[in-house]
Amino acid sequence: MRLALLGAGGHGKVVCRVAQRAGFEVIGFYDDFAKGLVLGLPVLGCFSEAPSFDGKLFVSLGRNAARAELFCEERSVVLIDPSAIVDSTVRLGLGTVVMAGAVINVDTVIGRNCILNTGCTVDHDCVIEDHVHLCPGTHLAGSVRVGEGAMLGTGACVIPGRTIGAQSVVGAGAAVVRDLPARIVATGVPARVVKDASV
Ligand SMILES: CC(C)(COP(=O)(O)OP(=O)(O)OC[C@H]1O[C@@H](n2cnc3c(N)ncnc32)[C@H](O)[C@@H]1OP(=O)(O)O)[C@@H](O)C(=O)NCCC(=O)NCCS
Repeated sequence: MRLALLGAGGHGKVVCRVAQRAGFEVIGFYDDFAKGLVLGLPVLGCFSEAPSFDGKLFVSLGRNAARAELFCEERSVVLIDPSAIVDSTVRLGLGTVVMAGAVINVDTVIGRNCILNTGCTVDHDCVIEDHVHLCPGTHLAGSVRVGEGAMLGTGACVIPGRTIGAQSVVGAGAAVVRDLPARIVATGVPARVVKDASV
C-alpha cells in the first residue's frame, strides 16, 4: 500500500522504517522545513500539499499537539513493527504506530494517533486515549489509563490501576504511584507534580 509521511524529522525517519518493515511502500515525506531526500526518499511538498497525495497519509510528528492538528483519520493506517507483540484482543485506533520491540498485552485499548515508541510495554486492560505518546522504554502495568494527549517520557513507569490526566507530561525515568491530574508535569521517583503543563 502506498503511504506518505507527514514529518521528516527524527521521529519521521523511525516511522518510515517501521512502515517499510510492515510492508508499506513509502513514497516520500511532506514537511514544511525538510527538503531534498530523507532516507533516500523525496520530500514531496509542505504539509498543506499532503491532501493531494494519492495514497494513505500518516502523521509522523513526535509532538502530540502538532500530530493531532494534522491527523486525518479517513486517510490514515495503523503501523505495527513486525518485532512488536500485540495481543489479538488489543484494539488500536487509526494513526497509531507501534514501534520495534513494544509489547501490548490482553484487552488493552489504544486510541487514535498514538505513538507506542521503541521497547515500551503496556500490560493488560489499559486504556490509552487519542494522541498519546509513550516514549521509548516506558512501562505501564495493568489497568492503567492515560488521558488524551498525555506524554510519558523515556523510561517512565506506572504501577497498576493509576490514571494520568489528559495533556499531562510525565518526566523521563519517573515512577507514577498515584493518580496524576490533567495538564501537569510530574517528575521523579515517586512522581510528584512540579508544574502546570501549560507553563
Ligand atoms: C520533565 C520534562 C518535561 C521537563 O522539561 P523542562 O520543563 O524543559 O525542564 P528543565 O529541563 O528546564 O528542568 C527543570 C528542572 O527539572 C529537572 N528535571 C528535568 N527533567 C527531569 C526528570 N525527567 N526527572 C527529574 N528531574 C527532572 C531538571 O534537572 C531541572 O532541575 P533544576 O531546576 O534543579 O536544575 C523533561 O525534562 C523530560 O523528562 N522530558 C521527557 C522527554 C523524553 O523522554 N522525550 C523522548 C522523546 S522520544
